[in-house]
Amino acid sequence: MGNETKKAGEENVVVVENYSYSYPTKKNVIQNISFTVKKGEVLGIIGPNGAGKSTLCKTLNGLVPHFYGGFFGGNVTVAGMEVLKHTTAELSTKVGLVFQDPESQISGMMMTVWEEVGFGLSMLGFPREEVDERVNDAIKKVGLEGLEKRSPFELSGGQQQRLAIATVLAIKPEIMVLDEPTAQLDPIGKYEVFKVIEDLTLEGLTTIVVEHEIEELAHFADNIILLHEGKILSYGKAKKVLTEVEKLKAIGEDPPSVTELTYLLDKELDLSLVNYPITLDEAIKIYKELMVSS
Ligand SMILES: Nc1ncnc2c1ncn2[C@@H]1O[C@H](COP(=O)(O)OP(=O)(O)OP(=O)(O)O)[C@@H](O)[C@H]1O
Ligand SMILES: [Mg+2]
Repeated sequence: MGNETKKAGEENVVVVENYSYSYPTKKNVIQNISFTVKKGEVLGIIGPNGAGKSTLCKTLNGLVPHFYGGFFGGNVTVAGMEVLKHTTAELSTKVGLVFQDPESQISGMMMTVWEEVGFGLSMLGFPREEVDERVNDAIKKVGLEGLEKRSPFELSGGQQQRLAIATVLAIKPEIMVLDEPTAQLDPIGKYEVFKVIEDLTLEGLTTIVVEHEIEELAHFADNIILLHEGKILSYGKAKKVLTEVEKLKAIGEDPPSVTELTYLLDKELDLSLVNYPITLDEAIKIYKELMVSS
């Protein structure tokens, strides 16, 4: 009979195999990369400017290559669909993309927050009751209750970004892809958006997030890809990738501050530590143990 049914959490919803991509005017933006994302997994993508992070995000809903053209090599399958064989419209029902600029994601055609969230659903032809239910649910998930009748343009940046997340959630995607969702927000906006993302990941939504705030990623990413000049420089558990201090610094990426502090102390005092922390909580535990044992 064989064991063909995969257990929950073991099914790959994103499979990238030997993927290479060149824009019509820029060669080798992605160079032979491979990775997988399991159902319910949170994958963080980090790397310096121009590494190819946004290009990779745009591949997952087919904008690359269908909109941009260029050369596409290898295989990318998302929610069971090969990107090359499906349109962006088809892929967008399974993959929700959120970009860094909140205003550019607002349609500009809807008068209220509520209508904006329902816009995509109406286009897809969902019946009225279903639209109502999904819109209310999405607005609740991003904490915009009470602002349903407000114009999308009369929201703060953080609220607009949560609105963008709600419009994506209303489609009930299998995968959510966020490309530096907090890059343009103030600290309060950043906090609000991270809180929403973290809640969604806790509910089991498969999430891919490009993020410069490495400290935040350390809290909720299962795996991390370090991308550099279109290649994967490091890939694996957050704890593995974020503690490779020298590798990160060599390409100008900062590890979490507790990780870097531990690394510096370890070198300075010759402690031969094997377990570097990536979050403050972990650091406290490790430092307490060190103090007790010394
Ligand atoms: N439409 C395009 N046409 C040609 N080249 C492009 C296009 N979009 C991006 N590029 C180039 O592809 C490379 C990767 O860009 P990409 O935007 O994917 O990087 P990124 O890692 O998201 O960078 P950032 O951190 O600045 O957002 C860069 O050299 C960029 O200039
Ligand atoms: Mg980018």
